[in-house]
Amino acid sequence: MSFDAAPTDLSGKTCLVTGANGGIGMATAEHFAACGARVLTTDIGDSFAGECQTDHHGFDLMSDAGLDACCDWIAAETPDVLFNNAALFDMGSVLQADLAQHDRLFAVNVRAMYAVMQAAAKALVAAGRPGSIINMASQAGHRGEALVAHYCATKAAVISYTQSAALALAEHRIRVNAISPGVIDTPMWKTVDSLFARFEDKEIGQKKREVGEAVPLGYMGRPFEVARVAVFLAGAQSQYITAQTISVDGGNVLR
Ligand SMILES: NC(=O)c1ccc[n+]([C@@H]2O[C@H](COP(=O)([O-])OP(=O)(O)OC[C@H]3O[C@@H](n4cnc5c(N)ncnc54)[C@H](O)[C@@H]3O)[C@@H](O)[C@H]2O)c1
Repeated sequence: MSFDAAPTDLSGKTCLVTGANGGIGMATAEHFAACGARVLTTDIGDSFAGECQTDHHGFDLMSDAGLDACCDWIAAETPDVLFNNAALFDMGSVLQADLAQHDRLFAVNVRAMYAVMQAAAKALVAAGRPGSIINMASQAGHRGEALVAHYCATKAAVISYTQSAALALAEHRIRVNAISPGVIDTPMWKTVDSLFARFEDKEIGQKKREVGEAVPLGYMGRPFEVARVAVFLAGAQSQYITAQTISVDGGNVLR
């Protein structure tokens, strides 16, 4: 993977990335490593698929056993930076999306996101160390979409938990922020595009092309463009920023 490393110095810091084999997670792990951090990665699979050196553990965050094991690992490692990124996407309007879909999406996007954030925060507080927690929200968390009922709700929850956690943890010098990407060209978009093709009767690839063309900056975002903001939120350059949700969306959402 080639990119221009940001100037932020993360040497001496341990940064943990969930969903590290996905598009944004992998780019962020690579950027943290390029900035000198020791990088810990996790995803469902047992190895990290990126190029940089990481200490990787495979956990399925949808299962209680996997989530507990991941939280134990976080407690043992006490990372300075958490990039809380693993998530699932699925579609359906309020007339279509059932509770099984609700439970799957909330299990990973909200329940696991919360548990992982809590484990990282508790470890830092116990160690008396500052830290930076970065939760992955979405433009979908800022307004509902007719065909995306549950996923939008999970991302609204991420934004709310980010604010509550930031206010609770400020006295411990732990900052908590979220990133709201717009449309970023990652493996998740293969799923998103094929679901929209089915729900909106489009050709495969059509929705992806349309959403990219509709972005005010004129193209679908690339994972490194999110990773650079993660580096900023991880490092000292953002030391007076907490409880915020930063949009990285080419101008898609105005609020
Ligand atoms: N790509 C976009 O357009 C976009 C837009 C807005 C928000 N986001 C958010 O950004 C984050 C990263 O998205 P991405 O596009 O890189 O997605 P991706 O699908 O490429 O990566 C997500 C990763 O999460 C992992 N994951 C899913 N379920 C898991 C589980 N049960 N246990 C452990 N790991 C699990 C997957 O294996 C995958 O590697 C997500 O939170 C997503 O909701 C993405």
